[in-house]
Amino acid sequence: MSNNQNNHLDQLNQFNPIISINGTITNKENAKISVLDRGLLFGDSIYEVLMAYDSVVFLLREHLDRLWNSAEGLFMNIPISKNELSHEIIKTIKAAGNKISYIRLMITRGEASRFGLDNDFCSKGNFIIIVQKHSGHSSHYYSEGVTLGFADVIRNDVRALNPKIKSGNYLNNFLAYMSVKNKEKGAYESIMLNSDGQVTECSTSNIWIIKNDKVFTPPTTVGILAGITRETILKLGKKIGMEIREENFGAKDVINADEAFISSTTRIIFPATKIVSDLRDQKIGSGVPGPMTMRLLAEYRKFINEYINRYRDNDL
Ligand SMILES: Cc1ncc(COP(=O)(O)O)c(C=O)c1O
Repeated sequence: MSNNQNNHLDQLNQFNPIISINGTITNKENAKISVLDRGLLFGDSIYEVLMAYDSVVFLLREHLDRLWNSAEGLFMNIPISKNELSHEIIKTIKAAGNKISYIRLMITRGEASRFGLDNDFCSKGNFIIIVQKHSGHSSHYYSEGVTLGFADVIRNDVRALNPKIKSGNYLNNFLAYMSVKNKEKGAYESIMLNSDGQVTECSTSNIWIIKNDKVFTPPTTVGILAGITRETILKLGKKIGMEIREENFGAKDVINADEAFISSTTRIIFPATKIVSDLRDQKIGSGVPGPMTMRLLAEYRKFINEYINRYRDNDL
């Protein structure tokens, strides 16, 4: 097994999730869905990944808002209201009873009543909530940082399948990840460029660079998922007085950055300390997690703690 696969497995050490299908809670052996579901037939589904600490779901409202935006982008009806879905999520994490939970929330367009693309050819959508115990990431990701590589495939164009839609069709990201995994051993994440050579994001995270004490991340118009962690970092960075900007940059800017990092819900911030490219393998900046990256990570952790304390006594 490669290091990359190990990396992912250490997050989900025992894969024994509690699963709700349309409100019925069960285990992975009994969680069933039709083989005619459009999610399976066409990748016709949307999803969110969230974290819960005890029964506090971090930034639940923001994730549900993005889910509804994804549905709108795909002319999909979500078969349940935001309030009801929130309650179903809480019900499922309480049934799982984990200290920290990884939640995968999925909506599919539903079972096809015949073959054909038209969205009238299917029944009501399904909602699926998968809750898995999360043991936290190994500390070396934070203390040593990760290696990035450049993907061979470009990011989906905003005029094709807009990356702002968080859809179950994840094959663009998968191919990007595989191209780095196969070619450049040791790269943890792959950076995708768009057809104009601008850096967009990584296969499962947003990307950031720091140069001359300024923090940069590509704007959403370049073709990325508007990461909830990204949005939060933008706010926190401004709050602590950092110069933080949404601006386009290219591959060379990543290679020549003073610091770089990736962001996502489950990882928060992983420093990116090395880069492998066609030219050479090299350190980013001094090759160790940089001070501004670590400052943002510390602020983010503080924000999570405050959030949990604020919502601990509310059910939502
Ligand atoms: C392509 C992509 N970009 C960015 C992110 C980060 O988004 P968030 O911070 O909302 O987890 C993800 C997370 O899954 C992703 O898949």
